[in-house]
Amino acid sequence: MLKKPLHVGTPNIGNRETFFKHVNDMFDKKWLTNGGDLVQNLERKLEKFLNVKHAITTCNGTRALEIAAKAMDLQGEVIMPSFTFIATAHALEWLGITPVFCDIDPESFCIDPSKIEDLITPKTSAILGVHLYGRACPTEALQRIAEKHKIKLYYDAAHAFGCSRNGNMIGNFGECEAFSFHATKFFNTFEGGAITTNDDTLANKIRLLVNYGFEDTDKVISLGTNGKMNEICAAMGLTNLEAINSVVQTNKFNHILYGELLKDVQGLELISFEEGERNNWQYLILTLTSEYPLSRDELIKELEKQNVLARRYFWPGCHRMEPYKSRKTYSQTQLYVTETISSRILILPTGSAVTANDIHQITDLLKSYSTDTLNR
Ligand SMILES: Cc1ncc(COP(=O)(O)O)c(C=O)c1O
Repeated sequence: MLKKPLHVGTPNIGNRETFFKHVNDMFDKKWLTNGGDLVQNLERKLEKFLNVKHAITTCNGTRALEIAAKAMDLQGEVIMPSFTFIATAHALEWLGITPVFCDIDPESFCIDPSKIEDLITPKTSAILGVHLYGRACPTEALQRIAEKHKIKLYYDAAHAFGCSRNGNMIGNFGECEAFSFHATKFFNTFEGGAITTNDDTLANKIRLLVNYGFEDTDKVISLGTNGKMNEICAAMGLTNLEAINSVVQTNKFNHILYGELLKDVQGLELISFEEGERNNWQYLILTLTSEYPLSRDELIKELEKQNVLARRYFWPGCHRMEPYKSRKTYSQTQLYVTETISSRILILPTGSAVTANDIHQITDLLKSYSTDTLNR
């Protein structure tokens, strides 16, 4: 049994001295929010890191998704995968837009382009892809469909900070991309997010929406909300941005070690990341096949007894959660791949809080259930 509970998504925290220095500067300037130096500095650094024209920070990823949809004037229906965190769907529903759930590809776990066109109706205004676990969506295929049907395409990039597709950083695809910098994410600002785009007009619209439509002091020229990131969150962002290379190294080391130790365990498959692309290696994902003697849910319970708090990201899929599942429109939704994968998936702790010794213990447990059960 592990000495203390190990959670999925324990925060990656950069250098404390750097953080406190930023916070002291903030107090000296007495500027706590409303686009101060720290937020502006972070936005410019994000643009550089992601090689994108505009990065507009927000108070969280959910608000980033809402503002992105609003900035593109989306209405009616938006096609998205059901296999994602509920915020992707709720952000649409919150704006009175209907999420239409599409199945995923069994290899990438991202939205399956071959299933999208059947879902397009005269009400469809966009496709919303999710780069799940930092594995990029098939952006070219999605772009072709969006262009053919003259609908918008944008992405939930909450998992994909620091990842790439064909050598281009996530953040540059579709009309815009929405990131989450929640504490559990690879790169965190406590709570926070950003919308990135290469479109100047869209970027201006987003900036207005994030701050009540203010173009200048006392000059409001559009509808807007309070979507702003504050200075202390930006201080955390600047601190953590400096640390991301070492977090990637740790995550990758952990992934390789888990892989080595589990390679002979029947029925457990460790999901890998594409060679030659950048990845944050933030998610340690196992799929269980019928060869493993425990079901996914039995395994979660066993691990919990041993202080290993694995998670079922994302079970049971948005279409099986409220307010969607009780609605007549969704009762017919059959998403075979989503339902299969979501019943077999398991996420294990990784990140800078997890040591090699922890990984040895966790993998020993995974092996022991396998042999115990077989020897029963
Ligand atoms: C795929 C996905 N989309 C959106 C969000 C929402 O981001 P936030 O928690 O920053 O609002 C999250 C995570 O929390 C997520 O995992």
